[in-house]
Amino acid sequence: MELSKRLSLIVDHIEECDTLVDVGTDHGYIPIYAVKNGICKNAIASDINKDPLDKAKLNSIFEGVDENIDTRLGGGLETIKLGEAQVAIIAGMGGNLIRDILEADKDKVKELEFMVLQPAQNPEVLREYLYTNGYEVIAEDLCIDEDKYYELFKVKAKVGEETELDPIYYEISPKLLRDRHPLMGEYIEAKKEKYEKILSFIEDDTESALNRKKELEEKIAILTNLENYCN
Ligand SMILES: C[S@@+](CC[C@H](N)C(=O)[O-])C[C@H]1O[C@@H](n2cnc3c(N)ncnc32)[C@H](O)[C@@H]1O
Repeated sequence: MELSKRLSLIVDHIEECDTLVDVGTDHGYIPIYAVKNGICKNAIASDINKDPLDKAKLNSIFEGVDENIDTRLGGGLETIKLGEAQVAIIAGMGGNLIRDILEADKDKVKELEFMVLQPAQNPEVLREYLYTNGYEVIAEDLCIDEDKYYELFKVKAKVGEETELDPIYYEISPKLLRDRHPLMGEYIEAKKEKYEKILSFIEDDTESALNRKKELEEKIAILTNLENYCN
């Protein structure tokens, strides 16, 4: 079984553990890969919908690891008991939904050794939540898969230190900038192009349109500076 670039990035950030839970598992590729490759002994493949779970079950049988993978139906982390897993993976959902899943089960989140989170949209929402709610950000990473960028957060819940940043740094990771991640320059360029496109569509001269224009122009100017920093 070969993983996509996006899923490979996730497994690259998982350390050996006893039990891993994959929330929103769908096809079950992460738990299957983790068990097959000795990253974990057992895995819980969890999903809010039955059809994906059936798919995960079938895939685990095909790959010969069904005895070590428990499929569980339910939302977020409600399918696991407190302390049952050491590692949680939550990927392929929006940043808002991942934030809500963490917020709904703080006690279980605190018991995890770490989590690997990879939002499919709105990573900035998740970054703001993690930074301002005292999470320890162990690592951040970025990949491009089929022309789409994916950000990744490896985090641990801890008591204390909340970090508030200028909003632009929830969009552009200060950690990835500092590390001079090789994809950062093109990632910023792609964001800039998106804002320039939105700007080009604004033709009204109402107060709110002019404010939006100003906001976008300021954002584009900051992104240009950050892009220069990467080069
Ligand atoms: C796009 S798939 C992502 C699959 C896989 N995690 C990946 O990254 O390739 C999203 C999966 O999340 C499940 N899902 C959506 N909301 C959920 C929730 N609140 N709790 C658990 N699973 C959820 C969906 O049923 C779907 O199977």
